[in-house]
Amino acid sequence: MSKPVLQVVIASTRPGRVGRVIGEWFYERAVAGGDFDVELIDLAEVGLPFLDEPNHPKLKQYEHAHTKEWSAIVERGDAYVFVTPEYNHSFNAVLKNALDFLHQEWQHKAAGFVSYGGLSGGTRAVNSLRQVVSTLKMIPVVEAVNVPFVPQLLENGTFKPNDMMTASADALLAELAKLTSALRPMRLSAA
Ligand SMILES: Cc1cc2nc3c(=O)[nH]c(=O)nc-3n(C[C@H](O)[C@H](O)[C@H](O)COP(=O)(O)O)c2cc1C
Repeated sequence: MSKPVLQVVIASTRPGRVGRVIGEWFYERAVAGGDFDVELIDLAEVGLPFLDEPNHPKLKQYEHAHTKEWSAIVERGDAYVFVTPEYNHSFNAVLKNALDFLHQEWQHKAAGFVSYGGLSGGTRAVNSLRQVVSTLKMIPVVEAVNVPFVPQLLENGTFKPNDMMTASADALLAELAKLTSALRPMRLSAA
């Protein structure tokens, strides 16, 4: 069996965002880990409009090419890591919109979180996000990377994690691999 696909989803689309460099760091860590085929999915590049499908996504009756393309991307993922900022004590609207667009594509797959922000390190964003991914029947893992005071860890536009963050990333990847090895055969046998 081929390696499972991990999609690292960069949620922030803001000009000047920090999210891209954090996402790239985690992507490289995941590639080095070797358990997954890793894809970097940047919502700025996906470029979805606000949800504009007439049918409930549960039905998978999509009218727009952008939805069909987004569906095909998410479908090939076996696990996801959402790289999320904290905006007003929650995750950002672009990510909520991207999640809302689809339904079956997300189901019965492991989800992990890399968050960043001020003092809270984006933990409030992750708490909100856990509720939403659980409703979509993703299985959120407890292990996570939370980066407080993110500007202090940027050097010349590169993210410089401390040892705790690197260890957290590896723990998150290990847990995702464990869960994915159980969920993937389950999904394939149900298909
Ligand atoms: C609209 C907005 C709301 C924010 N709210 C919070 C917040 O509630 N908690 C926090 O720790 N940081 C907050 N911040 C600061 C962000 O964590 C910081 O700007 C971070 O770089 C945003 O991620 P991004 O650069 O990838 O978009 C907020 C920033 C913006 C733009």
